[in-house]
Amino acid sequence: MAQDFDRKVAMVTGAATGIGAATARLLAERGAKVGLVGLQEDLLAGVAEELNGAADGSAIAVPTDVADPTQVEAAVTRIVDEFGGLHHAVNNAAVPGQEADLHEIDVADWARTIGINLSGAFYGMRYQIPHMLAAGGGSIVNIASVNATKPLTQHGAYTASKHGIVGISQSAQLDYVTRNIRINVVSPGVTDTPMVGSGGDLADVMKSIVPWGRMATPTEVGEAVVWALSDQASYLVGQQIIVDGGFVLR
Ligand SMILES: NC(=O)c1ccc[n+]([C@@H]2O[C@H](COP(=O)([O-])OP(=O)(O)OC[C@H]3O[C@@H](n4cnc5c(N)ncnc54)[C@H](O)[C@@H]3O)[C@@H](O)[C@H]2O)c1
Repeated sequence: MAQDFDRKVAMVTGAATGIGAATARLLAERGAKVGLVGLQEDLLAGVAEELNGAADGSAIAVPTDVADPTQVEAAVTRIVDEFGGLHHAVNNAAVPGQEADLHEIDVADWARTIGINLSGAFYGMRYQIPHMLAAGGGSIVNIASVNATKPLTQHGAYTASKHGIVGISQSAQLDYVTRNIRINVVSPGVTDTPMVGSGGDLADVMKSIVPWGRMATPTEVGEAVVWALSDQASYLVGQQIIVDGGFVLR
């Protein structure tokens, strides 16, 4: 069966909302056991309840701050203890960071944005990969952004963090390329999630700046993530998939 995750265990960070929640739903629909990692306990519990309603024992909520390596290690351990291993991971949690010219970015906001977006993905891989090695292989998708290709003004920390995601993913891919672990990046364009918000005329603005004429849905991005994780993408090695409605073409 295409994209069959039966008997596979996945960890998704930032799984309470948006692209993370959509990806977790798709993985559970295709048979995976999913560890839902994120900050908002109530929302995470709601996603877990929904997934367990569809298939009992599909998901657990693991409230975690991905900027804290101790908490990330504990989250990985909890998922492995619950489901017996770890085969797939989506390091997706992020914040947009302060919107300001570079010389006005608070030093603390820089550290927080890099800490969540980039160090969070490092901590994730740091503790996920040993379990994939133990399982004989696995696959990881780290979420960057079109901003890793096209810089966004007044978002220096966010843009730097997303360039960093591409770099760390491709470097790590070479580390594990002989050990059956694939590490790829999905870079969404403008996607209809809480991060973007729903300003009144946003749909009209999107029509003017996105060649495809609209935002992505979280599920459209999640489908690319799930494919990149799956065995169907067995020759996709250290790549960046840009899912952006043609945004970077302009
Ligand atoms: N929405 C877009 O237009 C867009 C565009 C390009 C890239 N992205 C990327 O897609 C990914 C998902 O974002 P989204 O659009 O679904 O937005 P979102 O805000 O719905 O999702 C981000 C999630 O990360 C979680 N998070 C934030 N800080 C955390 C922390 N310290 N520990 C644990 N979880 C934390 C949030 O609670 C949230 O659930 C992000 O990496 C984002 O940078 C989004």
